[in-house]
Amino acid sequence: MIQQTREKFIKIFGKEPLIVVSPGRINLIGEHTDYNDGFVLPAAIDKKIVYAIALNNTRQCHAHAVAADETLSFSLDEVKPSPGWINYLLGVVNQLQEGGHTVTGFDCVLAGDIPIGAGMSSSAAVEGGLVAALDHIFQYGLTRMEMALLGQRAEHTFPGVKCGIMDQFANLHGKKDQVMLLDCRSLEFEYFPFNFPDYKIVLCNSMVNHSLASSEYNVRRQQCEEGVKAIQVNHPAVKSLRDADMNMLNEVRDQVAEKVYDRCAYVISEIRRVQDATIFLKQGDIRQFGQLMYATHEGLSKLYEVSCAELDFLVSLAKEREEVAGARVMGGGFGGCTINLVKQDKVAAYTSYIESAYKAQYGQLPEIYVTTIENGVEII
Ligand code: GLA
Repeated sequence: MIQQTREKFIKIFGKEPLIVVSPGRINLIGEHTDYNDGFVLPAAIDKKIVYAIALNNTRQCHAHAVAADETLSFSLDEVKPSPGWINYLLGVVNQLQEGGHTVTGFDCVLAGDIPIGAGMSSSAAVEGGLVAALDHIFQYGLTRMEMALLGQRAEHTFPGVKCGIMDQFANLHGKKDQVMLLDCRSLEFEYFPFNFPDYKIVLCNSMVNHSLASSEYNVRRQQCEEGVKAIQVNHPAVKSLRDADMNMLNEVRDQVAEKVYDRCAYVISEIRRVQDATIFLKQGDIRQFGQLMYATHEGLSKLYEVSCAELDFLVSLAKEREEVAGARVMGGGFGGCTINLVKQDKVAAYTSYIESAYKAQYGQLPEIYVTTIENGVEII
C-alpha cells in the first residue's frame, strides 16, 4: 500500500513525497472510560492510513483520498469546517494554526484499509498521520502526547465529536506486540506485552455503520457529567466518575434520571474492571480477562446502550464457543466491530461459524479481521 500511495502521489503531483503510516486501534477493555478520567487498554494495529505528502510553496492544500477517488482543496487563509473526509484534515490544520504553528501549502494522498465506521478509529488515524507529517516537515518539535491532544481538539472542534483521548493516544503511541494501560486523567501510561501466542485478536464487523455514533456519543458524555454534578452536591471533591463509587451514586439515585444513573453505574464499574483486567492480563490469565470483556459488553449493551441487535448477536455467538476467551463491542459502539480473543488454532473454524450464523440471521456476511498489534504512527 505504501508503494501504491507513493506512486499515486507522484502521478498526481509529480514529485517525491514523504510517507507516513498511521494505524487504527483496538481496545482490549475500558470503553467510554477515557472522557471520565478512567483507564483504557488500547493498542495500535495492522490496519492503517498511509499518507504521501509534500509542500507545494503556495497557500493552497490539495488532498486526494484514494477510497473516495476524490481530490479536495482548501486555502490556508480560510480554514473552516466542511462536510466529508476533508474535515479531519481541516480540523488538524486549524488546531496547528490556533497553536501558532506555521503551516504552508501541501499536497497529499491518503490511502488506507481501516474500515470506516467500524470502531477502529479511522478518524484518529487521519488526524494523527497529518499532525505527525506536518510536525516532521515543519519541525514543530511536538511530543507524541501533544500531537494526540491536538488531534483530539481537532475532533472536538471540526467533526464535533467530544471524544476522549484514547484513539489519538493509541494511534501515536502504539508499540509492536505491546498493549498500553493509559490513565486518562494523568496521561501516564505503561506498556506491557500481549503475551498470548495461543490467542489471536479477531474483529467481527457487524457491517452496521455507526451513523448514530457522534450525536449519541456526545449525549453519553453529557449524561456522565450530569451524574457527576449530582454526586458533587454531597461530595465536592468528586471531579469525574473516576472519583465516584456506587455508594455515592446510590445516594443520588432518586435525583437523577434513570438513564443517567445507568450510564454512571456502567462507567464506575468499567473503570474498576479495567484495573482488575490488567492484573489478569499481567498474570497471563486470559480466561478471567475474557470474562471481564463479557461483563463489559453486558454493561455497554444494557446500561450504556451503545450496542445494537447485530453486535449483541455476535457476542452471543462468541459465548457459545469454547475457543473464545472473551468478546465485546469495541470503540464508541452503535455498530462496528466486536473484539474477540480466539484460540489461534481455531480461528478458521470460528470465522466460518460466525460467517454462516450471521449470514443466516441477517442475510449479510460480516467482515472478519485477524489483527496484529503494531507500532503507532511512523514516518518512513
Ligand atoms: C470513541 C472515542 C474514544 C472513546 C471510545 C469509547 O472511539 O473516540 O475517545 O471514548 O469511543 O471507549
